[in-house]
Amino acid sequence: MSEKKSRSSFSGSIGFVLAAAGSAVGLGNIWRFPYLAAKDGGGLFIIIYLILSVTFGFTLIITEVAIGRKTKKGPLSAYKALNKKSGFIGFFATIVPMMILPYYCAIGGWVIKYFIGFLTGQGVSMADDGYFTGFITSTAEPLIFMFIFLGICAIVILRGVVKGIENLSKFLMPILLVLVVVIAIFSLTITHTDADGTTRTGLEGLKILFIPDFTGVTVGSFFSVLVDAMGQLFYSLSIAMGIMVAYGSYVKDNENISKAVNRIEIFDTAVAILAGVMIIPAVYSFMGSEGLSASGPGLMFVYLPKIFAAMGVWGNIIGTIFFAMVLFAAITSAISILEAVVSSFMDEFHISRKKATIIETVIAAVVGAIVCLGYNVMYFEAPLPNGSTGQILDILDYVSNNILMPIVAIATCILIGWVLGPKTIIGEVEKGGVQMGRSKLYVVMIKFIAPALLAVLFLKAIGLILI
Ligand code: PHE
Repeated sequence: MSEKKSRSSFSGSIGFVLAAAGSAVGLGNIWRFPYLAAKDGGGLFIIIYLILSVTFGFTLIITEVAIGRKTKKGPLSAYKALNKKSGFIGFFATIVPMMILPYYCAIGGWVIKYFIGFLTGQGVSMADDGYFTGFITSTAEPLIFMFIFLGICAIVILRGVVKGIENLSKFLMPILLVLVVVIAIFSLTITHTDADGTTRTGLEGLKILFIPDFTGVTVGSFFSVLVDAMGQLFYSLSIAMGIMVAYGSYVKDNENISKAVNRIEIFDTAVAILAGVMIIPAVYSFMGSEGLSASGPGLMFVYLPKIFAAMGVWGNIIGTIFFAMVLFAAITSAISILEAVVSSFMDEFHISRKKATIIETVIAAVVGAIVCLGYNVMYFEAPLPNGSTGQILDILDYVSNNILMPIVAIATCILIGWVLGPKTIIGEVEKGGVQMGRSKLYVVMIKFIAPALLAVLFLKAIGLILI
């Protein structure tokens, strides 16, 4: 019986780092980071993001990895194992990935569709006005692509920690890095002239990304950049959704997790910045400053295809490379979401990997189908607390990201900072004789600063702080 077998573990540090980086590098790095950086004064946003990354981000991510390694359990059982009264944190940390997986797979399906489209030379028609809306409002296609994407993830997870997650990440992540660099270089070489004769270059776009723009910065706007950077970091590192606990539970005791966490953060941040270098100059040259305010699915599935189409012969090639890269990023993130749930089910209910994977895949398929149908037969517009309206996808995204994830993260800070004490984590990191760098900073962060920052994020998300 599988539960009697010893727990699987990553074969070494590189396997863990690339798997965790695979989780962290996702759709958020590719469209959200560049968009926020351009909107929030370029260099200013990047500087704040980097400072937060080595303080706030480091604290949260190392805490989760250490909780996983210490308890050797998936999130649902891990928090209970640390403290009897903390089971609710594990419960939420398992519900969150269960909510995210279905809509992540729906978007993953859209990426497969666009990848195939560009690969087969139909990129130009995908740039037509209304193409994307036409696609997601059709009934069958989005469903089929969602199932394919989910199926791929399920196969990887069925193969297990080393043969599935680790091997795939070791293969895809280096390729992803090369592809981002290739497109970024291409993007910098663009020169585009509009019909009215205005010429813009990629290099001018690069300035918007990196040179801090302090014009019009006020205390309020600085605060808003800070909150944006914090929210982005939090999402980008795949924190508060049980993932780092699950992956941490597969790390061997003699591994230096402090060093590993630094590498994960460097990888994640490097890809985010490179994505900025890839997207901002291209969007700026073709669409000017106004184009930069397009975000989300609008950017990826509507504006970028238009830019690729405008590139002529190069368009299909660059488009294919781009969507291949996005697909790799999305798959390695989606498998981590699935694994968080599967490891929880395996450890809590003592069932086999196969059974746990099948159960969660069926749940995700049903909910994922509802998400896809939310754009056609089940269409409605629900008001969201931030003033916008959304479909089923947006509701799942809103509740998980803005409400449940901050609750998990704040509760984790209180548990470690105040109930069990920061030594629990520092001791785990230093087990086996490694020194934990920044351990004094860690204590201050986990007790005071991180929960305070998270509380601000939470209050803003639910609309109680208006900035
Ligand atoms: N961290 C990923 C990103 O930046 C997003 C993600 C969300 C990954 C949920 C896993 C789970 O895009």
